Amino acid sequence: MGVLRVPAPAKLNLFLKVLNRRSDGYHNLQTLFHFIDACDWLTFELKDQPGLTLACEQTELNTTDNLILKAARLLEAEARQHGKTNLPGVHIRLEKHLPVGGGIGGGSSDAATTLLALNQLWHLRLSRQRLAELALSLGADVPVFILGQSALGEGRGEILTSMDIPEFFYLLAKPRCHVSTAEVFQHQELTRDSSPRTIRAFPGGAQSFQALLELIAIGNDCQSLVTKLYPEIDQTIALLGESAHAQLTGTGACVFAAFETRDSAEQALVRLQGNPVIEQILLVKGMNHSPLNKHIQDVKHRTEHNIT
Ligand code: C5P
Repeated sequence: MGVLRVPAPAKLNLFLKVLNRRSDGYHNLQTLFHFIDACDWLTFELKDQPGLTLACEQTELNTTDNLILKAARLLEAEARQHGKTNLPGVHIRLEKHLPVGGGIGGGSSDAATTLLALNQLWHLRLSRQRLAELALSLGADVPVFILGQSALGEGRGEILTSMDIPEFFYLLAKPRCHVSTAEVFQHQELTRDSSPRTIRAFPGGAQSFQALLELIAIGNDCQSLVTKLYPEIDQTIALLGESAHAQLTGTGACVFAAFETRDSAEQALVRLQGNPVIEQILLVKGMNHSPLNKHIQDVKHRTEHNIT
């Protein structure tokens, strides 16, 4: 089988606590990753000739510094170390739907999807554990997309404990600005002294909307700084906040608000659509399992049983 089309879903950070700065320049975090049903799509096509190429119709890509190509090259180098040379070349086509620079992990998810898809197409049989290690070298929030389950992220975000989160609806709004993650984490005014909680101290268990709101209420430590640096984000939180509690995801720029029913989210969406402050707004559903898991399992099954 030479062609594979697979999703790269986005995530929300339902809360994000910054505990302290580490000697390697990163920060220890406690964050809750939850998948949503908004995705980029990637198509991988094996070629007779060696080489990796990437194309995208929706946006201009920086093809020298792109995380998809970095992931593919990293996997190729890992395969070579295991004596697998002469791998077929691959042409990758990216259908970009997720807002770029939005704090919803679009680029990270594309990279994780590339690692998982090429591991199958090249028959490398690397474990998820090894793929997660490679993923971490690409970015702190790439490993959760390899795990493919909602999870509490600790350390840099790579120490993952799966958590079942009540699945409800969200409006996800992207203001007209981009946030640099590095700038936020390096900023003098970032609050970086939250106390760590034990897992048992997190509200949860019950699959109620109230339980979800309590998790979100833990808050995002980057929000007060980011709203000060980017007034557009402050305005977006205020606009969404007219309908429901609104909060930053990751280091932004996207803002989300949770809704118990699709109807209530749709009503708020209608009020917000066309507002000049907001560049893009999506109604999405929270999911505990990445939709990529099923695609990868199907392809594994077909490969193992020689079904084309
Ligand atoms: O790992 P990633 O490349 O996504 O991180 C981007 C930047 O965000 C890092 O260079 C670092 O400055 C900051 N960061 C951090 N602590 C984390 C994750 C990211 O300081 N846990």
